[in-house]
Amino acid sequence: MSHNLLKGKRGIIFGALDENSIAWKTAERVHEEGGEFVLTNAPVAMRMGQINALAEKTGSKVIPADATSLEDLENLVDQAMEILGGKIDFVLHSIGMSINVRKGNHYTDQNYDWTQKGTDVSATSFHKVMQTLYKKDAMNEWGSIVALTYMAAQRVFPDYNDMADNKALLESIARSFGYFFGRDKKVRVNTISQSPTPTTAGSGVKGFDGFISYAEKMSPLGNATALDCANYTVTLFSDLTRKVTLQNLFHDGGFSNMGVSDAVMETFTK
Ligand SMILES: NC(=O)c1ccc[n+]([C@@H]2O[C@H](COP(=O)([O-])OP(=O)(O)OC[C@H]3O[C@@H](n4cnc5c(N)ncnc54)[C@H](O)[C@@H]3O)[C@@H](O)[C@H]2O)c1
Repeated sequence: MSHNLLKGKRGIIFGALDENSIAWKTAERVHEEGGEFVLTNAPVAMRMGQINALAEKTGSKVIPADATSLEDLENLVDQAMEILGGKIDFVLHSIGMSINVRKGNHYTDQNYDWTQKGTDVSATSFHKVMQTLYKKDAMNEWGSIVALTYMAAQRVFPDYNDMADNKALLESIARSFGYFFGRDKKVRVNTISQSPTPTTAGSGVKGFDGFISYAEKMSPLGNATALDCANYTVTLFSDLTRKVTLQNLFHDGGFSNMGVSDAVMETFTK
């Protein structure tokens, strides 16, 4: 199903780790819609090697970059413009990591060095990516920048741990930087707040199976899949959404506006 929505557009896609990654599905869909891009991930993720299969499939080059390193990001943006032959039209930030989550530290018992590292990777990196693009004047007018987030930024999900705080900061950065990017460069910046999705990062959250089943039962349309998210992102990269900016866009089958559903009530009524 291709509509050539991204024909002639060039981009950078962060965060495709394996075929379950939301960024992986997005790269496949962007390719089908005619977009060209470079793929990037942390050098440590490269060693797992799967990203090369995606690069081959989509005719893309891979440029390693730790999204917390300004030096890596400057090199990435320079190389991307050289490889793609011009300025950038779309960027996907699909990066998240919490060492406290990974090591099983409770929210009330954090190791603050890990907290800081998680914030740098999951939220500040978005500012660093945009600052690098902005200073290099690397974005075309009417370009589009998207980062992925989760509703724990607004509501309490106890096991989401310090990632909730990271997502709140990420969404704030989207608005704050989005103002300057819109005013000065006519570039839009949005976050997509996605349903729980079975990926490496998602499944790392404690109790993820219960979490995803609960969301499925609460949402009138059911959970949005990684492919659904890829399709939504394509629309945000396309020229059909030029005046959408500074938004946190819920993409969750309706979950975020639910109080309770019949399916969930059934489990409490005899
Ligand atoms: N899976 C879910 O349930 C869910 C729900 C809502 C939002 N999200 C968000 O979607 C995004 C993508 O996650 P995913 O679910 O596809 O999982 P994923 O594990 O496939 O992707 C996370 C990516 O972050 C990359 N990364 C980690 N540290 C990095 C660094 N220093 N520099 C560059 N890249 C780095 C990883 O290598 C990986 O590719 C994340 O922001 C995540 O929080 C996920």
